[in-house]
Amino acid sequence: MKKMLLTATAIVAVGAFALTGCSSERGGDTGGSGEETAKGFAADSTIGVALPDKTSENWVLAGKLFEDGLAEAGFKADVQYAPASNTVAEQQNQIQAMVTNGAKVIIIGAKDGKQLATQVQAAKDAGATVIAYDRLIENTEAVDYYAAFDNFKVGNLQGQALLDGLAERAGHEAPYNIELFSGSPDDANSAVFFDGAMEVLQPKIDDGTLKVVSGQTEIAQTATEGWLAENAQNRMDTLLTGSYSGDTVLDGVLSPNDTLARAIITSVQQAGKPVPVVTGQDSEVESVKSIMEGIQYSTINKDTTLLVEQAIKMVQQLQKGEEVDVNDTESYDNGAKVVPAYLLDPVIVTKENAAEAYANVPSLLEIVKSYE
Ligand code: BGC
Repeated sequence: MKKMLLTATAIVAVGAFALTGCSSERGGDTGGSGEETAKGFAADSTIGVALPDKTSENWVLAGKLFEDGLAEAGFKADVQYAPASNTVAEQQNQIQAMVTNGAKVIIIGAKDGKQLATQVQAAKDAGATVIAYDRLIENTEAVDYYAAFDNFKVGNLQGQALLDGLAERAGHEAPYNIELFSGSPDDANSAVFFDGAMEVLQPKIDDGTLKVVSGQTEIAQTATEGWLAENAQNRMDTLLTGSYSGDTVLDGVLSPNDTLARAIITSVQQAGKPVPVVTGQDSEVESVKSIMEGIQYSTINKDTTLLVEQAIKMVQQLQKGEEVDVNDTESYDNGAKVVPAYLLDPVIVTKENAAEAYANVPSLLEIVKSYE
């Protein structure tokens, strides 16, 4: 049943694309000089890639991988990052320019997933296909596909790692004192990571195993604007002063990614307190080192190479007029439609399984081996 539904969605989507793609006569089309294929588009077309500001290493890597991978596949790659200031408006302009320049597919890692409806609709109207990359684009029917790691599972894994780490390292029985951090409110992933983690942690808060000493358990209270390290560090400083000034020991912190994990650890160290169990995500180099040194407890391996490959595979399928592979047609309701998704599997990484987890990531494996 799921399979049938999935095929039907893909056919409708490709069919709709082929129709608009063939019938639209538009000016300024520098998308490709070759022959249009029956349903797809020219094999040397321009593919736009709009990425957010570089709030973690994965975004830096993704740009390079898209440049190389799309060129290797025969396309013209137009890869743009939104600058750190005026990011939303700049990204809107970049996407609009890609549309005007006749990009056949536009892959978007959104800065603010709620503020791109106008631009993706313009893309759709021009006959381009829109793929949301890593972050969902919300409240618009004009997004065709979503390629991402399973974000809810990322949260589940982070919640479980926090529990495992506490059992391993707290040095005492429950209850454990913890604090919760989440990502930027303008990123649709933030709530999904948090909800995934809370699915694991909430029952343990309810039964008294975990105690959020500050009482801040609502996502709005835990948010880290812009995914910025300094914001997480400031909040941790405040939490330490407000809730951990006496003998109260902080045992663990749910951190949604590595950049914030390191900022949280810095705050605790600067306060002269013992480093708690801290989770992360992204397998950033400095965090992998920290894990191997026994400081940060965990991270998540979301291999950017695999996700970029998957997005490029979607582009190739669209180019040939083939069905686009998706493996989830129910999880990602963006407020206007359920976006057909291809979700990859995230992997939890601790010191214990690091060598195994990075077996296919040579640069990280080398770091792990250097600690052996
Ligand atoms: C990504 C994370 C990343 C965060 C900050 C999220 O949308 O999924 O991997 O850590 O953005 O850049």
